[in-house]
Amino acid sequence: MRAPDPLIGRDLLNGQFQIVRKIGTGGMGAVYEASQPSVNGKVAVKILHAKLANRKDLVSRFHREAAAMSHLTHPNTVKVLVYGEDEKDGLLYIVMEYLEGKNLNQTVRAEGPLPAERAIPLLVQSCHALQEAHEKGIVHRDLKPENIFICNQGGMKDYVKVLDFGLAKVTEREMRPGSMILTQEGMVFGTPEFMSPEQAQGKTLDARSDIYSLAVILYEVLTGKLPFDAKSPMEYIQLHVQKEPITLSARVPGKTFPPALDAVIAKALSKNRDDRYQTAAEFAQALQQAVGQGPTSHQISPTAHSPVPSNGSPSPKAPEAASPAAPLAHAMPAAAPAAAASKGGVSLVYVILAFVLGIAVALGLALFVFKR
Ligand SMILES: Nc1ncnc2c1ncn2[C@@H]1O[C@H](COP(=O)(O)OP(=O)(O)O)[C@@H](O)[C@H]1O
Ligand SMILES: [Mg+2]
Repeated sequence: MRAPDPLIGRDLLNGQFQIVRKIGTGGMGAVYEASQPSVNGKVAVKILHAKLANRKDLVSRFHREAAAMSHLTHPNTVKVLVYGEDEKDGLLYIVMEYLEGKNLNQTVRAEGPLPAERAIPLLVQSCHALQEAHEKGIVHRDLKPENIFICNQGGMKDYVKVLDFGLAKVTEREMRPGSMILTQEGMVFGTPEFMSPEQAQGKTLDARSDIYSLAVILYEVLTGKLPFDAKSPMEYIQLHVQKEPITLSARVPGKTFPPALDAVIAKALSKNRDDRYQTAAEFAQALQQAVGQGPTSHQISPTAHSPVPSNGSPSPKAPEAASPAAPLAHAMPAAAPAAAASKGGVSLVYVILAFVLGIAVALGLALFVFKR
C-alpha cells in the first residue's frame, strides 16, 4: 500500500484553504482540490513537489509560471487567485479557480477525434487566450492537449481554459532593460510531439512557436493522430524540423476534411515561422473562415492589463483585484473583453470633446479681444 499523501488535509494561508484531494500529478508538482471555507467554495492548488523544493531552477520556474499567469486576465486562461510560499515550511503554491471538466487529451481519449464543428471553437478560444499572453510578451511554450482544459460548469459547455504556463517566458522584446535574459539558445524545453521546429532546435521563441503547437493540437484532435509517424520523442523532434507534415486528408483513410481547413493547418505548420499566421488572432480567424463559423463576442481578445505582483517577496501575492477570499469566478466574465474592445471608441470621444472645447475657447478669446 502506498503511504497517504501528507498534503491531504493540511491548510494553506492560515486556514483559508484546506487541501481535500489530489487531482493530478505533473512533472513539477501536483494539482489538488482545496476547499475555501470562508465562501463555501472550491479552488485548485498547484504545489511544487517537496523533493524539488531545493532545485533552484524549478523553484524559479514555478515562480515564473505564477507570475506569467498573474499577468493574464483573459477568460480563457485559468485564473490565479493567489500564489506564494507557505510561511510554515516553504511550500510553494499557486491557488487557481477550480475547473470542472476534462483536459483535451482526456476528452479525445474518451470520445475519439472531434468533428471540426466542435474542435474549431475549442481551438479558437485557445487562440484568444494565447493572443492576450502574446500581446503581453508571454510565450506559453508547452501547448499540448493536456494543458487545454474543457470546462463544463456554470451552464457553459466546451469552455476552454488554457493551463500550465510552467515553461512560459517573457520574450526579450518585453523585458525591461537590465533584466536578465531568460532565453538561452541551445536549450530545448517542451513536449516533443507538439514542439515547433525552432523549439526543437533550441532557438529563441516567439508567439509563432505557440501557433505551430496549437496547429499540432488541432491536427490530433481532428484525426486522433499526429502529423508525423515517429517511434520516439527524439524522432518527433527531428521530424518537426525536417519533414513535411502528412496532410490532414491523407491522415485518416476514408475521412474527409474541408479543403480550406487542410490549407489553414498546413500554413500554421510551416517550418519557417515567417510563413505561418503571425498572430494567434489571425490563426483563429482563418480557422473560423475555413469552416464557415463567425466570431462570437466572448472571443474578442481583451487588452486590459492587470496589476502584477512585484518579484522577490516571499509572502502571498494576490495577482488581481480579487482577494483570495473572494468568491471564485465559476461564471466566465464577458464584460471585460467588451469594455476593452470599446476602448478605441472612448478615446475618439475624448478627441472630439477636446476639439469642441478648443473651438469654444478660441471663439471666447476672439470675442473678448474684439469687444475691447
Ligand atoms: N484549476 C484547475 N482545476 C481543475 N483541474 C486542474 C486545474 N489545473 C490543472 N488541473 C488538472 O491537473 C493537471 C495538471 O495541471 P497542469 O497545470 O498542467 O500542471 P503540470 O505542470 O503538472 O502539467 C491538468 O491536466 C488538469 O487536468
Ligand atoms: Mg501540464
